[in-house]
Amino acid sequence: MLIRKPNPIRSSEITSKDNYLNRREFIRAGAASGAIAGASLSAPAALAAVIPDEPLAKLADIRKPSPFSTDETLTSYDDVTTYNNFYEFGTGKDDPHRNARDFEPQPWSIKVDGHAENTGTFHLEDFVKPHTLEERIYRMRCVEAWSMVIPWVGIPLADVLKALKPTSKAKFVAFETLYDPKRMPGQRRRVLDWPYREGLTIAEAMHPLTILAVGLYGEVLPNQNGAPLRLVVPWKYGFKGIKSIVRIRFMSRMPQTSWNLSAPHEYGFYANVNPEVDHPRWSQARERRIGSGLFAAKQPTLMFNGYAEEVASLYDGLDLRRNY
Ligand code: MTE
Repeated sequence: MLIRKPNPIRSSEITSKDNYLNRREFIRAGAASGAIAGASLSAPAALAAVIPDEPLAKLADIRKPSPFSTDETLTSYDDVTTYNNFYEFGTGKDDPHRNARDFEPQPWSIKVDGHAENTGTFHLEDFVKPHTLEERIYRMRCVEAWSMVIPWVGIPLADVLKALKPTSKAKFVAFETLYDPKRMPGQRRRVLDWPYREGLTIAEAMHPLTILAVGLYGEVLPNQNGAPLRLVVPWKYGFKGIKSIVRIRFMSRMPQTSWNLSAPHEYGFYANVNPEVDHPRWSQARERRIGSGLFAAKQPTLMFNGYAEEVASLYDGLDLRRNY
């Protein structure tokens, strides 16, 4: 839902989308032959992602290919960054990239509280720096029945949470977006009960598919995609992927979440992608892949967005029809 300030980095230093795609092919071929995967793994850690005067190309250099990535065709950079949901910057799909142009996501800090040993307020750099950035190419399925394939750059949420040392009382993790109506004009209207809030069970948060993204397409995260730090949980509807996170809280009880508060009969806490459980106002059986053309046939939606093998066991004993 928004855009970035004029960039101090020369455009020649930024990995072009063509280079990005060529490089990705190169990495994939190398990884398949075992030739360069090791080199990628030993690359330096994450700081370039969050220091604005570092060349963005470095972010591309420290990506690590992941076995969790899909090889489906990527949604174009233009679509990923101009068709957004980020109500803090407006409710239209093209509002965020226009209205977030001047949003400044630096400096940024994250408050950690609740049932953990390492609570307090952390600078974004300190939060991200100890962990290794990875590229994760994931499908994203919005509850509105459209989808994309996005090459995120991020860190496993589990790595971050383990460093914060949750206690045995921590059964859930709650997240909050920045509340600042001066900088986020959409918050001047009460379309949601601000700040935007989301949550996961501790098992979902610790799952290796769950990441905190700091970039996409090898670049730092554009404002409209949730700069500087957003959640990505690929087997859940996109609204679980809370953007511009400023608070992480370890809780013993299920946290309240924005969309569940706004329309409890339409948006559950779990919100796992499920083609068999329709939204009260539309079918969830099929989805429109953004960029596939206005007249392209919708494609079938997959259980858990295609990640059932990895995550279905998290929900053993849960009635998926009720807790979608
Ligand atoms: N996070 C915040 N803070 N505010 C929002 O309005 N929208 C959600 C999610 N995260 C939203 C948010 C919804 S509905 C979707 S589908 C995804 O962000 C969209 O992410 P994208 O714009 O990067 O594609």
